[in-house]
Amino acid sequence: MRRKRLDKVELSDKILAGDREKAEGENGMYIGIDLGTSAVKLLLMNNEGQILRTVSREYPLYFPQSGWSEQNPDDWVKESLQGIKDLTEGIENIRIDGIGAGGQMHGLVILDENDEVIRPAILWNDGRTGEETNWLNDEIGREKLVDYTGNIAFAGFTAPKILWIYKNEPENFAKIRKIMLPKDYLVYKLTGAHVTDYSDASGMLLLDVANKCWSKPMLDICHITEEMMPKLCESFEVVGKVKDEMKEALGLPGEMNVVAGAGDNAAAAIGTGAVGLGKCNLSLGTSGTIFITADKYSRGDGASLHNFANADGKYHLMGCMLSAASCNKWWMDEILRDKDYNAAQAEIGELGENHVFFQPYLMGERSPHNDPKVRAMFIGMSMDTTRADMVQAVLEGVMFGLRDSFENAKAMGNDIRSASICGGGAKSPLWRKIASNILGIPIHTVESDEGPSLGGAILAAVGCGKYASPEEACAAIVREKAVTEPDPVLVEKYNERYAEFRALYPMTKGFFA
Ligand code: XUL
Repeated sequence: MRRKRLDKVELSDKILAGDREKAEGENGMYIGIDLGTSAVKLLLMNNEGQILRTVSREYPLYFPQSGWSEQNPDDWVKESLQGIKDLTEGIENIRIDGIGAGGQMHGLVILDENDEVIRPAILWNDGRTGEETNWLNDEIGREKLVDYTGNIAFAGFTAPKILWIYKNEPENFAKIRKIMLPKDYLVYKLTGAHVTDYSDASGMLLLDVANKCWSKPMLDICHITEEMMPKLCESFEVVGKVKDEMKEALGLPGEMNVVAGAGDNAAAAIGTGAVGLGKCNLSLGTSGTIFITADKYSRGDGASLHNFANADGKYHLMGCMLSAASCNKWWMDEILRDKDYNAAQAEIGELGENHVFFQPYLMGERSPHNDPKVRAMFIGMSMDTTRADMVQAVLEGVMFGLRDSFENAKAMGNDIRSASICGGGAKSPLWRKIASNILGIPIHTVESDEGPSLGGAILAAVGCGKYASPEEACAAIVREKAVTEPDPVLVEKYNERYAEFRALYPMTKGFFA
């Protein structure tokens, strides 16, 4: 078994606005949680929407086979609880009014009759379900799937994972009593409520997205029943209170409301203020996403872009790459063995001239190719290729990959004039410049780059009645920070480079098939 453990537990306790004293005695705070793939990130937001502290705690990620990706749900809970303790430690008279989580999407968590986790969670970037995905798309048929759920099947979605367990682990399948998504398991442990929200549920391929209810035909296709499924809620709905035994474990008093929360991309869109009609958020995290808000459901192209419900009660379109900032992390940490990302990027010269291309498919690709078998490639190196060219190619390759979804969104009639950006990759000014010029739009950051955890805290504040809606809360809390404008000359150069990049996948995919 090829196994990779990332077992370093990291605690970063940054006091961002104000100090402990300022926080002491303050009333009605909110905790936002981002249950990510490499770590859980938590933040404490006060009643005025200021972020007082952030904490990050890592947990292991397992790759039992090439293209497989799993985590232990109890690691999420353990590190989240410790994270809440770290976040609130030493603050006297603290009162937490609400907790909201954004979480990695699509992951399958299954519980038995004793509420025990049956097997490790199979994650969003796991590619083992190629056969099940093809069966759904080809035998059930794409049209029918879109009728039932608004979407076609992708290997990372939850329904193909259920079919995989049905076929490959029948003894585990027989034990299933409850099915849930990663952040729902945390909410379940905190409150005892078996719930999910519409944005996250959309990524299961079990939700009738248009009608916001479980799809009976899809449950039947997956051999499961509605009793196994969580109750559906809006992201900002209070679904329960933290249980007494949990309050004791956390050392926190009072009534703590927990909202349903959201898929991490929907939570990030709230955290960057991308709410309302036609807003766009880019996320450069482990995955890379382009997220476009919509006020109503439309059938979409039934292909590359996901057609999901949103955390503000409306809808959105999304393209998701499986490896984004993680490509840079892999290249720098594993291959170059160089932790100084800034210095490596400082060596990069002119943009738009690179003769090296990188196809960013380290875990296969979701949008737009829906190809779990494809893998990453560098192409175009010559004897004069430098290390800086390769570093640059990685940053550019990720953005070219995201442009694939951007082009599909435009082709569907979305007029995207600008975007916000979040995630670890968004911290690099050079990567933001590359993003702005490859997409040809201004890209802005917001004052707090916490993304999904801020979105979680905002949803909690809405649930507790502090704001009437996510839109109102975002208007009060989220502030734009810096804008990167595209340069028309560079945009032109990148248009030419993108045309070359786009031609590469059709030429090379047969090699991996
Ligand atoms: C979205 C997706 C990823 C994960 C990452 O469809 O699969 O963005 O949510 O956490």
